[in-house]
Amino acid sequence: MGHRVTAAVDGVAYTPGELDRDATFYVAGHRGLVGSAIVRKLEAEGFAHVVGKTSAELDLKNRDDVFAYMAEIKPRYIVLAAAKVGGILANSTYPVDFLSDNMRIQTNVLDAALANDVERVAFLGSSCIYPKFAEQPIREDSLLTGHLEPTNDAYAIAKIAGILHTQAVRRQYGLPWISAMPTNLYGPNDNFSPKGSHVLPALIRRYDDAAKTGADSVTNWGTGTPRREFLHSDDMADAVLHLMEHYDGPDQVNVGTGTDVTIREIAETIGQVTGFAGETEWDTTKPDGTPQKLLDVSKLAEAGWMAKISLQEGLERTVAWYRDHVDTIRE
Ligand SMILES: NC(=O)c1ccc[n+]([C@@H]2O[C@H](COP(=O)([O-])OP(=O)(O)OC[C@H]3O[C@@H](n4cnc5c(N)ncnc54)[C@H](OP(=O)(O)O)[C@@H]3O)[C@@H](O)[C@H]2O)c1
Repeated sequence: MGHRVTAAVDGVAYTPGELDRDATFYVAGHRGLVGSAIVRKLEAEGFAHVVGKTSAELDLKNRDDVFAYMAEIKPRYIVLAAAKVGGILANSTYPVDFLSDNMRIQTNVLDAALANDVERVAFLGSSCIYPKFAEQPIREDSLLTGHLEPTNDAYAIAKIAGILHTQAVRRQYGLPWISAMPTNLYGPNDNFSPKGSHVLPALIRRYDDAAKTGADSVTNWGTGTPRREFLHSDDMADAVLHLMEHYDGPDQVNVGTGTDVTIREIAETIGQVTGFAGETEWDTTKPDGTPQKLLDVSKLAEAGWMAKISLQEGLERTVAWYRDHVDTIRE
């Protein structure tokens, strides 16, 4: 397929290889679902200078503060995993925040990284950048070939701008920056809040509550038939480091498992893992959303990476984490 880019195409002549374990590595969003997994991975791999700041310590929407921080730490590598993130309800209720906050966060971090000649940046987007009716499984080259899903178009446009930003830096300045587009993620430090969460943490919370109270039934939205793909955040972190060490090119790389399951199957597995003994009901008056969302991961496979954590194992680990942290999770 020839995804690899040569210097003639975008002016970047760079051979990816092992990153320097002694260099400063800035993880923007280091406390989040993805950022915390990346920190765990980097520390396990022997990176000695992994740095990050909470949003309370450094608001990435504040350009001057971002430039000052970047000049102070002078990182050699960055993963940009800081973003305003939410499920369908939050996205459709607060589109201005999802557009404006994310544009500002990424523009500030990428501009400050450029000003400090950061060698390798991995920008993280999301599968919602692809057209609503993209052919399944969704290939990277379907980007900008059709209309977006309207409930999260503001967020998607910000993320598309981020991909273009990394490509433009490659073209104009020759820095080997890359971007990766994960599928639905789950794991420790996820957002389990009923107002802001994605489908999987919302199901974990609902089934765990029902198991604890001994409820007879749980009711989920829709028919349960839509198919979705889920990747554990530790696999995601593994994939991002792998791409930083083995991939270079202007095209965003999809990160997923390459297989999907129905929402009904996911709900049943979560019910079993949480020990819920009642019935699951489906409120078919509520919308289902897109029938299928699955990423084509052949480019990632070409780069030499495959998911390792099974859904059963990932869910067992995540439910255990949720139970250990239920009193301190973010609302
Ligand atoms: N979760 C998914 O299923 C999923 C799927 C595809 C792609 N992604 C992408 O992965 C990236 C990370 O997502 P996530 O799920 O890890 O989200 P998350 O758990 O909500 O974490 C986001 C992090 O961003 C930080 N942040 C937000 N606004 C900030 C600000 N103004 N200044 C500084 N830091 C700020 C937060 O820091 P504090 O904790 O300090 O407030 C938080 O740790 C995003 O780009 C997202 O699009 C996620």
